[in-house]
Amino acid sequence: MAYTLPKLNYNYEDLEPYIDAKTMEIHYTKHHQAYIDNLNKAIALHPEFENYSVETLLASINSIPEDIRTIVRNHGGGHANHSFFWEILCPAQSPKTNNHLPKENLNAAIIKTFNSFEEFKNKFSDVAKSHFGSGWAWLVLDTNNNLKIYSTLNQDSPYLTGDIPILGLDLWEHAYYLKYQNRRAEYIEAFWNIINWEKVEENFLKSQPKN
Ligand SMILES: [Fe+2]
Repeated sequence: MAYTLPKLNYNYEDLEPYIDAKTMEIHYTKHHQAYIDNLNKAIALHPEFENYSVETLLASINSIPEDIRTIVRNHGGGHANHSFFWEILCPAQSPKTNNHLPKENLNAAIIKTFNSFEEFKNKFSDVAKSHFGSGWAWLVLDTNNNLKIYSTLNQDSPYLTGDIPILGLDLWEHAYYLKYQNRRAEYIEAFWNIINWEKVEENFLKSQPKN
């Protein structure tokens, strides 16, 4: 089964004015599609992996054959990260933004870890703003079940190190350059208006260890 572009839950223009329609269209139909095409080409060389979810491919990166390992890391990462990103976004006026605040379970965990939502938001934004070059900013549940904020280079996914992404922000210039040019900080500030906190809560609940 080849990997395919997931359906978007909104139209390209629905994230305006925070993310413009043209950026959404190119980002989704060109950039994301290219990651998928390259991943499919690599997996075609090793069809024994074709039924693996992209997350499983990344979580088991060291057992991926060497001749395709870097492609899986970069393009599989690109596919996983973008599929994740589209889902944690929603139109600013949607009820899913939950008044631009985390929902109850994640909110409690954020307060426990970072003292307040404001401190969390500042820390996440600072990590995103100070990231050098292309990459992603993340809130993850790490392997010790702690919430952690960090950034990754290129298309490196938290799954590579066993962490589970809860919230993520694309820091590649292709994500914002048409509208914001060099003003990455404005794009990062805009992001807080279009977060689907309902989905982020779901990510947090799913990340919890089962026992
Ligand atoms: Fe991107």
